Amino acid sequence: MNGSSDGSLPSPFSSASGFQLVFRPWRWSDIDDLWRAASEPGSHLPVTLGWAKRAIESAANAASAEEADILGRRSLRSYVVRRVCGHIARSPHALISYVLVDGETNTLFGSPSGWMTERPGIAEIGLWVRYPRQGLGREMVAYLESLMFRTLRPTAIELSVHPDNTAMIGLARSLGYRDSGVVERSQVGNPQPFRERSRLFVLTAAQWHVKHRALVMSKRVV
Ligand SMILES: CC(C)(COP(=O)(O)OP(=O)(O)OC[C@H]1O[C@@H](n2cnc3c(N)ncnc32)[C@H](O)[C@@H]1OP(=O)(O)O)[C@@H](O)C(=O)NCCC(=O)NCCS
Repeated sequence: MNGSSDGSLPSPFSSASGFQLVFRPWRWSDIDDLWRAASEPGSHLPVTLGWAKRAIESAANAASAEEADILGRRSLRSYVVRRVCGHIARSPHALISYVLVDGETNTLFGSPSGWMTERPGIAEIGLWVRYPRQGLGREMVAYLESLMFRTLRPTAIELSVHPDNTAMIGLARSLGYRDSGVVERSQVGNPQPFRERSRLFVLTAAQWHVKHRALVMSKRVV
């Protein structure tokens, strides 16, 4: 199956709940669902994601639910603009930003993005899922890394993880990323650039090829 005219890719995603999940490029209209995912009761996103926490905080003093929605969406929109502009200024054409949606209702299930960093040959992936522990995070990273090694051709992909983010650390390990320890780096694309400690997990192009070949072979054997 080939990708469709709206840029969606052949989707290997499945979910236990039986939704037909589709992987397609991010659109500005996704902001509404992004806000819903960040603000719905019990959402785990504001716990680890600064942009989700800031959006919730900016809506906290609203006089009505409608105003809260406007303020939350405004905060998210300005974060995305800064982030996208920052990436485009550094390396045009080197940002891949997708969403995973239910193909029928367009409900957002999560979003992985990949980009080339300012360090030559080094790409990074970031992601979130709306409903954790269904295997979607691992599938999204595996799919995006494959897309990136084939198109952007980095020498390595890094996952830059907050040292306390046990879910993401587990995910990185389960996909064969090597733990390269904790580093302190400036974060770009945030309202005020700041330095942040993160644990780096790295997959080189050579390691990905080995992993990919093993996967292809195992599918042939089955
Ligand atoms: C991190 C995140 C993307 C993981 O996605 P997910 O869909 O829940 O993860 P998966 O179900 O694919 O799990 C893959 C592996 O990750 C690890 N993992 C996932 N959630 C975990 C948790 N809560 N605790 C420990 N390990 C966990 C496990 O090793 C798991 O494999 P297993 O289920 O076979 O044991 C998700 O928790 C999330 O969106 N968190 C908020 C946003 C975020 O922190 N993004 C990362 C920023 S760097």
